[in-house]
Amino acid sequence: MLKAIILIGGPQKGTRFRPLSFEVPKPLFPVAGVPMLQHHIEACAQVPDMKEIILIGFYQPNDELNRFISSAQQELKIPIRYLQEFAALGTGGGIYHFRDQILSGGPAAFFIMNADVCSEFPLQEMLRFHRQHGENHCGVLLGTTANRTQSLNYGCIVENHETNEVLHFVEKPSTFVSDIINCGIYLFTQDIFGHIGTVFQRNQQERIQEELTNGKQMPEVIRLEQDIFTTLAGQKKLFVYKTQHFWSQIKSAGSAIYASRLYLKQYHQAHPERLATNQDGTPKIIGMLHEEVDLKALGPNVSIGKGVTIGGGVRVRESIVLHGASLFQDHCCVLNSIVGWDSTVGKWARVEGTPSDPNPNDPYAKIDSETLFRDGGLTPSITILGCNVNIPSEVIIRNSIVLPHKDLNRSFQNQIIL
Ligand code: GDD
Ligand code: GTP
Repeated sequence: MLKAIILIGGPQKGTRFRPLSFEVPKPLFPVAGVPMLQHHIEACAQVPDMKEIILIGFYQPNDELNRFISSAQQELKIPIRYLQEFAALGTGGGIYHFRDQILSGGPAAFFIMNADVCSEFPLQEMLRFHRQHGENHCGVLLGTTANRTQSLNYGCIVENHETNEVLHFVEKPSTFVSDIINCGIYLFTQDIFGHIGTVFQRNQQERIQEELTNGKQMPEVIRLEQDIFTTLAGQKKLFVYKTQHFWSQIKSAGSAIYASRLYLKQYHQAHPERLATNQDGTPKIIGMLHEEVDLKALGPNVSIGKGVTIGGGVRVRESIVLHGASLFQDHCCVLNSIVGWDSTVGKWARVEGTPSDPNPNDPYAKIDSETLFRDGGLTPSITILGCNVNIPSEVIIRNSIVLPHKDLNRSFQNQIIL
């Protein structure tokens, strides 16, 4: 039997996702109409013999998370549990802390996934690849190709081209190491815990020393990437399975729009029922809608939440409109933006951002989830309206981030509106 663990992080993480992460934990932010995590869970639920999905993070259990878990359990008929770390223990520390729960029932292997990635999740292919490589290794990393410059923002993997063994692993190197990057999706056998245990014991001794000499308490953080993969590389313990399918990180709100586009494209095969249907005589919609929407004109790449109202002549493209928002005033225009819950956009108003899409001429380009500021200025990016923001008629909001609960009274450009 198999299990899957999803690392969902906690409230100190997801800062590039503000102000949207004020309202909902980042892993539950809707991407292509469903919570970011649901894509992972659906992929796991399709793997034969998958017995349980465990979410590990340091969020306080909250209603939103509980509701999500119980509805996903019901819908997909698979047990899902949330285990809370008492502090951020790192990508390896959390799974080590909860190793007994992970190993209970004796899974032959288990997947570990970062929550903040979007992917086709080729889990069954990884499983086949794992079985082809015999019993003696302890894990398979999913890899993809990046270009030389962008590879530096990821974990980089040097492989043996014939055997696919991981020869070197360097997390976010400062100079070029390899164009194969770590996707944050792994398949491990229980042997991995032996290796994490060794690091844990070593750190424990250092921590006791440090506490005795400085009186300083050190957190017991273990990072899979720097502490485990780096040491296991070159020991025939790790292999890399390279995917040709789509994959992207979801760090910033801009990357959520890009990820939505990737999933919407996949929905044509995987979930046609989630896409809006186009009937003769009605406007063409390229994207997805929840049913209650009263709609006029949309697309491409739009996902519209429940209870959103849309008026005549409204244009929306490359955007996410969250539930309860209202674009009911005629002829407003929303491009490359996220419109927060319960926000309203007035007549002939224009809410517009700059997409941060990967270079379309480079097949290996990834999205740049840049920091908010560069050279003292706000980097042009998508426009985000936090929840309950009101944009009056004929106003233009461009490349700006509007914090929740604002009634704007004029146009803004390149600003964070506090
Ligand atoms: N439970 C828990 N506890 N989860 C955590 C913790 C922790 O202490 N720290 C991080 N995570 C989760 C995050 O929520 C995220 O889903 C994932 O682990 C990785 O987060 P980061 O630590 O921010 O790493 P990164 O995204 O910059 O880089 C990682 O992912 C890249 C692919 O997206 C690395 O694994 C890279 O090697 C990889 O290329
Ligand atoms: P496509 O033909 O859809 O590929 O559009 P485009 O890429 O040539 O241009 P753009 O996306 O800017 O505009 C698409 C549609 O939105 C056009 O029909 C425009 O008339 C309409 N549009 C552009 N700006 C506004 C606006 O401020 N308000 C409204 N209501 N519509 C607009």
